[in-house]
Amino acid sequence: MKNIILDVDTGIDDALAISYAVQSPELNILGITTSFGNTSVPEATRNTLQVLEVLGARDIPVIPGVEEKFNGDVHRDKTVWIHGQNGIGDAVLPEAAGKPLDMLAHDFIISAVRDHPHDVTILTVASQVNLAMAIQKDPGIVPLIDDVIVMGGAVTVPGNVTPFAEANIHTDADAAQFTFQSGLPVTLVGLDVTKKTLLKRDVLQTWRKEGTDLARILADACDFYMNAYAKNEPDLNGCALHDPLTVGAAIDPSFVKTVPMTIDVVTEGEKVGQTIGEKGANERPIQVCLEVDSDRFVSHFLERVTGHEAL
Ligand code: BDR
Ligand code: CA
Repeated sequence: MKNIILDVDTGIDDALAISYAVQSPELNILGITTSFGNTSVPEATRNTLQVLEVLGARDIPVIPGVEEKFNGDVHRDKTVWIHGQNGIGDAVLPEAAGKPLDMLAHDFIISAVRDHPHDVTILTVASQVNLAMAIQKDPGIVPLIDDVIVMGGAVTVPGNVTPFAEANIHTDADAAQFTFQSGLPVTLVGLDVTKKTLLKRDVLQTWRKEGTDLARILADACDFYMNAYAKNEPDLNGCALHDPLTVGAAIDPSFVKTVPMTIDVVTEGEKVGQTIGEKGANERPIQVCLEVDSDRFVSHFLERVTGHEAL
């Protein structure tokens, strides 16, 4: 089993990623840390606890992150049109009995890595501020972190929040630049591959027929998400599995193929959040995912999440 920390901004596809990770025996989730992006930290924390409640996984610790970006600015945007007022497609979830831990995400990351040297993989599917703060506060953890898998960036394709930038990197470009230059072993799961992994609309029907709380909630949330996608990309007939592919890459790295690159993040100006990749020599290159075995991954995801393949 692989020890992981999952860093989220729950978020519809974050909820899918959490459901996938919790139901995958290959992964041992040490904790789920929360960040801003799709929604605020308090809402992401509440949503994460509620998703865990539905999954019957209250024992997994949830740890809120800081509410400021790496440069100290407050994050104000919230993508209501993509993720709904409650951040989770306005799906109705039960109140959570679980409470967040009384510590901050970056301190949790430091202590988990120190408790499990060379045995923690960190998955970030939100802004990277929690990870950046952890390594800024305790740089000694860098060589102790086994692996980092980041959902973020658009190296060979256009961005999704601006023509240049992908949302997670755009949310805190300084944090991303800091972690990418830190020497951490990073695999980048960007739009280059996540936009090739589609959840098709017909799966909603299968989930609704299933009748479990989890299947109903995920169907309601994904219905909202797919409607948002349809406004921009009417031909897609579904939504991209951004955050779940990051979990997939942790479970089975052969879902993706990577190319080593140096990644530079633009931290100001019109192109803020752009991830510029350059192939070539670098002591600690970022492994950029450029190919994905989409059919195999999507089937695996569907089977794990609700026990069914698509119709
Ligand atoms: C990423 O941004 C967020 O909106 C999603 O949850 C995902 O992590 C996609 O660009
Ligand atoms: Ca996310």
